[in-house]
Amino acid sequence: MASTALAVHQPRPEKRSEEVLIIGGGLAGLFCALKLAPKAVTVLAAAPIGRGASSAWAQAGIAAAVGPGDTVETHVRDTIIAGDGIVDEAIIREMASEASARIHDLLDYGVPFDRDLEGHLAVSREAAHSESRIVRVRGDMAGRAIMEALVASVRKTPSIRVLEGYVVEDLIVEDGRVTGVVARDKAGSGEELHRLTGSNVVMATGGVGHLYEVTTNPTEARGGGIGMAARAGARLADMEFVQFHPTAINVGEDPAPLATEALRGHGATLHNSAGERFMLPLHPDAELAPRDVVARGIFAEVKAGRGAFLDCRTAVHDFAAEFPTVFGYCQKAGIDPASEMIPVVPAAHYFMGGIWTDINGRSSLPGFWACGECTSTGAHGANRLASNSLLEAVVFSARIAETMKAEIKPDAPADWQDGSVTTSEHITEKVHPNMVALRQVMSAHLGVLRDGAGMREALEKILHLARESHSVRFDNVITTAKLIAVCAINRTESRGGHFRTDYPEERAEWKRRTLVTLDQAHAIIPDLLEG
Ligand code: SIN
Repeated sequence: MASTALAVHQPRPEKRSEEVLIIGGGLAGLFCALKLAPKAVTVLAAAPIGRGASSAWAQAGIAAAVGPGDTVETHVRDTIIAGDGIVDEAIIREMASEASARIHDLLDYGVPFDRDLEGHLAVSREAAHSESRIVRVRGDMAGRAIMEALVASVRKTPSIRVLEGYVVEDLIVEDGRVTGVVARDKAGSGEELHRLTGSNVVMATGGVGHLYEVTTNPTEARGGGIGMAARAGARLADMEFVQFHPTAINVGEDPAPLATEALRGHGATLHNSAGERFMLPLHPDAELAPRDVVARGIFAEVKAGRGAFLDCRTAVHDFAAEFPTVFGYCQKAGIDPASEMIPVVPAAHYFMGGIWTDINGRSSLPGFWACGECTSTGAHGANRLASNSLLEAVVFSARIAETMKAEIKPDAPADWQDGSVTTSEHITEKVHPNMVALRQVMSAHLGVLRDGAGMREALEKILHLARESHSVRFDNVITTAKLIAVCAINRTESRGGHFRTDYPEERAEWKRRTLVTLDQAHAIIPDLLEG
């Protein structure tokens, strides 16, 4: 089947600008921009930088083997176990080895990580980590504190120009090389299309949570960057693997506020409305079982109408001090976690799939790089180990900067930052009318539990919605949804975040990553739909 790639093809300019274009103002994009200094960088962000990014909402912290007795090897081993057979060992070894250096970079940028009484970095424990290795900020404030420090550093760095409110719609591809982007200002409602060219383009647009009805992610995280890369011909990987967080707070909010896994680490337990501790018969580790197992346990209770509730009443002594973010969410919803249980539901939380990159963040297209949640480096396999995502973002964005810097000659001119367009107003981008239908079908058939018949129905619906798109930005989003559906139907087994009721076991022949381009996905759709 023919490719639907619609990337804008332009005549090659006489002389291409040396600047690096970074799409996305979350942790990966900003860290890459800082690490590229003093080379000229333009960051394009749909919202004011640091906002509209999942990184700012991270409650846990960064996994790093910096505590007493911990080792890089143990971190590697825990990640491989969580990833359920398909973690790329070379990638995770590099990532775990560089964790300490990147934590020290973040300290230099002003991130106030918690310290113990002797002044060493304090580390805490999380499910599926065999050692205490999560570096945090004031309990559950890590994401916010990291982003505040990075935004302040970016604003002070003369080599970084920021264009806020710029929504990138497409990549410019010339003779197979990515040479620029097409963007609209005013949060995507601007009349004029801006064409920006650069020596290299870095995609750092985050994940896909908003393809689902219940998600912990900001609205901006709906897979647009991944779909754009796919349409331009980039290779994707592991698109079937979506991680559902077991305990989003079930109060009908969109996005759903998160009740961090650390609460269960502290001893909080899960109950249904009949008072049964339903995780006990499901797994020897009960509430501390792997995230996908707990998510399925909660999903079953919610689906059966019994509901699921997190009981923190005896486990957490001073909720407001220990978990200020969750406490704030509960207060807003009128829940007192000291005397009441918190209603919870699984929510789309993290995407293990995305743009395939090598160990230095290079995609399969010349001139095009990617970092953060929009990538699939192979570090997470089929199921991400908690708190490895912020680590992956800083490690690989730094590697991109290091590799690229060696290839870029001049530094940024002194007045480079003067070209910035900044705003404190967070205008949410207008959402396509078919987004509601897309989120419904993704949740109904490509969520916590999947089966062949349901996924085929979902793919038919996605193809129908794609035909009705009439919008480049929605083409990007729906392309990602289509690739998730195709790869999920194609993988006839259950592994990590991908659970099929019609193939509930792992199968040896599927112990491998999925690598695919959009053209290859299109070619197998007719067979997949026949079943
Ligand atoms: C959590 O705090 O439960 C989320 C941590 C993560 O997803 O890494």
